[in-house]
Amino acid sequence: MNNIIAILGAQWGDEGKGKIVDLLTQKCDAVVRFQGGHNAGHTLVVENKTTILHLIPSGILHNDVDCIIGNGVVLSLDAFDKEVTELKESVPNCLENIYISQNCSLILPTHIALDHAKENKSGKNKIGTTGRGIGPAYEDKISRRGVKLGDLFDPSIAEEKINNICEYHNFLLHNYFGVEKLSSKDVFNNVMNLFNKYKKNVCDTTDYIQRLINSNKKIIFEGAQGSMLDIDHGTYPFVTSSSTTIGGILTGTGLSHKNLDYVLGIVKAYTTRVGEGPFPTELFDKTGEILSSRGHEFGATTGRARRCGWLDLKTLKKISEINGFDGICLTKLDVLDSFEEIQVFYGDEIGYKMFKGWQCKTSNIKDFEKLPSEAQEYINSIEEYLKIPIEIISTGPARNENIFHTRKLNF
Ligand code: GDP
Ligand code: IMO
Ligand code: MG
Repeated sequence: MNNIIAILGAQWGDEGKGKIVDLLTQKCDAVVRFQGGHNAGHTLVVENKTTILHLIPSGILHNDVDCIIGNGVVLSLDAFDKEVTELKESVPNCLENIYISQNCSLILPTHIALDHAKENKSGKNKIGTTGRGIGPAYEDKISRRGVKLGDLFDPSIAEEKINNICEYHNFLLHNYFGVEKLSSKDVFNNVMNLFNKYKKNVCDTTDYIQRLINSNKKIIFEGAQGSMLDIDHGTYPFVTSSSTTIGGILTGTGLSHKNLDYVLGIVKAYTTRVGEGPFPTELFDKTGEILSSRGHEFGATTGRARRCGWLDLKTLKKISEINGFDGICLTKLDVLDSFEEIQVFYGDEIGYKMFKGWQCKTSNIKDFEKLPSEAQEYINSIEEYLKIPIEIISTGPARNENIFHTRKLNF
């Protein structure tokens, strides 16, 4: 039995991680976020109702599942407050199941101002960030000047740290970027008000996760962003500022490598990317537009149009090796339903291989054998090239639109 599994995005984000975490949460006790912040947008569709989560783990729609925000996450209390307030309309008791690490680094309003100012100053070299303050908050964490959530338990320590960091941020904002300063007093008061509202949810999550493991509980570690946005392994500098690949789980939660049983990579049946940066298989023609409109490819966080292109197996192979995927979930197969031809990129030497489209609806099919033979061939070729079993095939946004294929996950 695999008790502890990781679910990671294999491309540039928005692969459908949220949907699959929600699906597999039916069988688990806890879901843990380990990196990123409210730059993430994870969409859950259950009985025609859509929920978009940014910070809260995608297990929250299930009763009695612990939703843990690990130390590696950068936390905006404003964003958390907004998300909890919205979520309470459909899950009134959601706070009872949320645990936040006291070691989370805080995203302050000055981080958000810096993120915007940097992007504006960069002009044509901008990264196209989500503008959520993610990069500046991780910079401060690494430079050891950041404020941790746990610092707020002592208001006098919190005030001193917030004053110091705001002084530094304001110097940059005013003198380097030429934009308005923010009042450190306002920042402090706002942060403390929100902290007092949520401090019951703050704890030592590393210790809590260890206790869950010791009592044989089932846990999902939920990735945010995608592997190609990883600060080390992605398309630097057009990346996010955290470790979105496998290593981020260990540093971002305190989990031991010995406890991880299975790693599931989430792969969209084609490729999308939001923001700037290289994208080898990007389509600039009508086909790209069709992928975009059939896949509803608009960002769940910023609403920006996602760039679209064919599946890039060469890049996927590298990413699979880095993460050690035990299995893959192929999502959005249905978006390819009406294409006459589908292309897949196999690297510069081979180039593209053309697959015949199946041109029929796949979203109500539950067995692999019942898929049209062309769709089976498409999936089998991906599996053969990557040498990794395709465990789940997702054929629609709703929780119940899936085909369980190889059944090796055993979760
Ligand atoms: P995440 O960031 O990886 O959780 O993915 P997002 O939620 O940002 O983007 C995935 C989008 O595709 C969401 O709108 C999902 O509802 C939708 N989605 C997920 N799986 C499928 C699928 O198999 N087919 C279709 N058509 N849509 C899907
Ligand atoms: P989920 O979890 C897609 C992209 C941004 C930008 C780059 C850096 O929903 O898959 P940042 O604000 O993180 O400094 O921006 O990373 N990006 C995402 N793209 N899905 C996401 O999250 C993303 N989070 C960040 O568009 O290119
Ligand atoms: Mg998303």
